[in-house]
Amino acid sequence: MILELLKSRFTDAINDLVDDTSDYVDLIRPSQDIRFGDYQANIAMPLAKRLSRNPREIAGEIISRLRVDDICDSVEVAGAGFINLVLSESFLSNQIFRNNVDSEKMGIDPIKKSKKFIVDYSGPNVAKPMHVGHLRSTVLGNAITNMLRFRGHNVITDNHLGDWGTQFGMIIFGYRNYLDADSYRVQPVAELSRVYRIVRAKMDNGDKDVAENVLAETAKLHDGNSDNLQIWREVMPYSMDEINSIYKRLGISFDYTLGESFYHPSLSGVVEDLLKRGIARESDGAIGVFFDGSETPFLIRKKDGAYLYGTTDVATILYRIREFNPDTILYLTDFRQSLHFEQLFKTAKLMNITGVEFSHVKFGAVLGEDGKPFKTRSGDTVGLNGLLDEAESRALEIVRSNNRSELSDEECKEIAKNVGIGGIIYADLSQNRESDYVFSYDKMLAMNGNTAAYMQYAYARVRSIFTKGNIDVNDLRNRVKSGEFKPELKADTERMLAKEILKFGDSIDFAIKDYRPNLLTTYLFELANKYSTFFEQCPVLRAETDSAKFTRLLLCDLTAKTLNKGLNLLGIKTVERM
Ligand code: ARG
Repeated sequence: MILELLKSRFTDAINDLVDDTSDYVDLIRPSQDIRFGDYQANIAMPLAKRLSRNPREIAGEIISRLRVDDICDSVEVAGAGFINLVLSESFLSNQIFRNNVDSEKMGIDPIKKSKKFIVDYSGPNVAKPMHVGHLRSTVLGNAITNMLRFRGHNVITDNHLGDWGTQFGMIIFGYRNYLDADSYRVQPVAELSRVYRIVRAKMDNGDKDVAENVLAETAKLHDGNSDNLQIWREVMPYSMDEINSIYKRLGISFDYTLGESFYHPSLSGVVEDLLKRGIARESDGAIGVFFDGSETPFLIRKKDGAYLYGTTDVATILYRIREFNPDTILYLTDFRQSLHFEQLFKTAKLMNITGVEFSHVKFGAVLGEDGKPFKTRSGDTVGLNGLLDEAESRALEIVRSNNRSELSDEECKEIAKNVGIGGIIYADLSQNRESDYVFSYDKMLAMNGNTAAYMQYAYARVRSIFTKGNIDVNDLRNRVKSGEFKPELKADTERMLAKEILKFGDSIDFAIKDYRPNLLTTYLFELANKYSTFFEQCPVLRAETDSAKFTRLLLCDLTAKTLNKGLNLLGIKTVERM
């Protein structure tokens, strides 16, 4: 990877000037404008400030120490002390066509210092309808996991299901009082969710009786009451089937699914331990962790003896450290849980838990086109399966209307599945995760713009060249591998496309750095656009020479592979025709 390579060369060059080089070499970037070379290092200015010296002079000194003859044609100081680098033809050709050899990894070596991550994502609340917020967590968590793994990290995924909360008190109370046995037999999930909504409505209307009953049923469940446990065991599988059907459609699976119920037996021990160590204390009958200067304590036991979401999360940390010994734990939930995780991480610190980095990878809300939290037409909750159905059926309409009868209806449906689901996933991932975004089928399925459909179409279009030209890609790849054919980059647009393809690995590293898959979608969109420019300006099948034709075909192949790999990492499938 070019950036990685440049960083290591610059590290060598500035090693004698400062001890901590990493912050400085992080300032090397691909240039925004070709006039400033291919890459630009903005190292000299901050370094000059630190050393109280002249930036241009420092830049000159860095250049004189820098060894990049094998990478660059020219290295120049510009303006206030920028260092502009122009990559050499031979380096580019070498790099890009080496990618062909190892097709799975795109010529990208795994990082040297791999870390162990636990990614805690999705975490729907069982027996409550799964909503778009959980979809967001699911889609983001999966993309982040795939990117980390692609770069060689060890990732354990764990779905921290909400399978033990007060919603079960509501379900149990509703089950006893409002369940329609016939509907339950035919459509258990729908009936349970109807019952849940009845109880929810009563509680929202301030029905104290119902609220008390719900608390009591929850407490009985937690105390091991056998009737309540029986209902819990009965409804769990129905709900899980529904949740799993959504994961299946999204193509997602987890290494572990250890829900809240799993930790229940250890909660009393956690509270006792925190009390004993003086980390938590009693106040008004409740038990919590109190922090200096902050009003709200982190509650771990309520007045009535009930444990909380946070108690379980403390127990979960202890379990994960014991069982997996991770370097980093990521939690994917929306903004509203910011305080919870801040307090959880502070508590971990008070518990002297060191060597683990905790990160709340938070995200914004999904809004409807009216700007309010997104709801489906049918009512107060979003059935995620319904949402996926709708995307697929709208995609089918589009695929059918674009089809000039070369695709069978079976094929159209298969394509629509990937375009519809891919559309939902891409729409989410292409946003800055911290912003709210508006859920719009029209936008997400548009064939133009930064959408999955556009990217999938771009991929299919590149692939179609090989069919059209009757080209055997594998044969072409083998001829490069064996050295029989030596591709050469000649035209400017070829170079431009080659450089863009080579940024793939770096774009993943940027995306991983702060857990932002949108940096990968931005890259892929840029790649598709650069490819369009290349395709307009460089005839491929009708190139003037065979050598140019094969070189360009190889660039097409690499573009297709990069688009495919990138979309797959995001959790999106490509289609060969569309
Ligand atoms: N069930 C939670 C919710 O729906 C998400 C769980 C997140 N993970 C965690 N370890 N707290 O909000």
